[in-house]
Amino acid sequence: MSDTAHEDDAAEAVQQPTTAETIDPPPKPLSLEEEAVAVLRANDRETHTIPAANLYPHQWLWDSCFVAIGLRHIDIDRAQTELTSLIEGQWADGMMPNIIFSEAPEYRRDRNFWRSWVNPNSPDGVATSGITQPPMLAEAVWQVGQKLNLAERRSWYKLMLPHIVSYHEWLYADRDPHDEGLILLVHPWETGLDNTPAWTHELHEHLMPSWISFIRWAHLDTVIGFFRRDRHYIPPGQRLSTLETLSYFDAQRRLRRKGYNTLKILDHGLFSIEDLTYNSIFIRANTRLREIAKTIRHELPEELIANIEKSEKALQGLYDPYARTFWSRDFITHRLLKQPSIASLMPLYAGVVTKDQAEHIVKQLENEHVFGPAFPVPSVPLDSRDFDPDRYWQGPSWVNTNWLIIEGLKQYGFTHHAQALTDSTLEMVRNSGMAEYFDPNTGEPLGARDFSWTAALTVDLLRS
Ligand code: GLC
Repeated sequence: MSDTAHEDDAAEAVQQPTTAETIDPPPKPLSLEEEAVAVLRANDRETHTIPAANLYPHQWLWDSCFVAIGLRHIDIDRAQTELTSLIEGQWADGMMPNIIFSEAPEYRRDRNFWRSWVNPNSPDGVATSGITQPPMLAEAVWQVGQKLNLAERRSWYKLMLPHIVSYHEWLYADRDPHDEGLILLVHPWETGLDNTPAWTHELHEHLMPSWISFIRWAHLDTVIGFFRRDRHYIPPGQRLSTLETLSYFDAQRRLRRKGYNTLKILDHGLFSIEDLTYNSIFIRANTRLREIAKTIRHELPEELIANIEKSEKALQGLYDPYARTFWSRDFITHRLLKQPSIASLMPLYAGVVTKDQAEHIVKQLENEHVFGPAFPVPSVPLDSRDFDPDRYWQGPSWVNTNWLIIEGLKQYGFTHHAQALTDSTLEMVRNSGMAEYFDPNTGEPLGARDFSWTAALTVDLLRS
């Protein structure tokens, strides 16, 4: 081949675009916020956001609250819709259900399983569950309000306040039958932290139905486990055990049989626990409710104010001065349920503990053998016998509980700790994506992928 031929080839190469040049340049990698927003868009169902495709196809109460807290930065109208859509599911007595079911025909089984219509207070034409979830609504409404101008904020608060008031009044009327100022829960799903140790211990030690004990005795749970729906999506080691799952469904059926009527349930029910995480969130929600009422110069009912003040004091009834720790408590016997879990950090978020108690909580957070692994905060401390880095609420780190702790730290002036936890949370998500939960030692993603509250709170943490 002559030199000229080479030169011709070279000239052609210059004139003709190469294949590489005709292809679009590789897309710019998404920023963390763009990645989070894409997840929220994918899970958007117009009026609400599902937690994740496949595994969670309905609307969940506290999930939507966290989603609204993130959405307020990018689309305030959509954030408001996320919360007003929850009102569609509110019961006539004020109860806010933990699930509002999709109307799609393929989910008939889920709706029938709950049969919310057995209770006359359930809303017409909307299928819901018959139990509640952590009362994050007042916080979410308040946070969304912070992004509105004063006039808009006032109308937003006016719209939402009656629903928050009736929800909180229902909690006192229905779930505090002895006027203690503490709310009792009747099912572990109400905690939002389904298999948190205080509840699983109660189940295994006192409350396991006999037919499930038989399954345990006969080792049939492995076989039954193969029929679990969640197994299609998530490895079983990352979810509740089969025995716990069966027991929770059994407990749900009992509640349904009592028409979701708390007094009847307390006579015959399985669980009745004054849950620490729930009550901490409720105390903070009451504070937010008072701020909302103040902004619109609305007088809250006297009885409600008296109850709110009672709750703030009642939290100290869950304090164990010897262990210097707060615990959940059995409603009937008042026995403190001393199984270590992330709940013991939640009084920081409640905002009503002493400075000394707050400092002790922060020490636990700093301790690398307790709550301070590489990717905190583990849902069960590392030194607990129950700790399992992969299993749902029994060890993994979750972005929503981190968010609550960050808020608590800020509230007590621990700004450096709050920043450090914000940074490690964002690093975990940057490395592993918008997973449902994470291995606290390695930061590896666990559970569902493209999970809505992880995405929404990532946006909030980036913007705060
Ligand atoms: C699981 C979680 C609960 C959450 C729901 C939907 O049940 O334990 O907190 O609300 O999934 O994401």
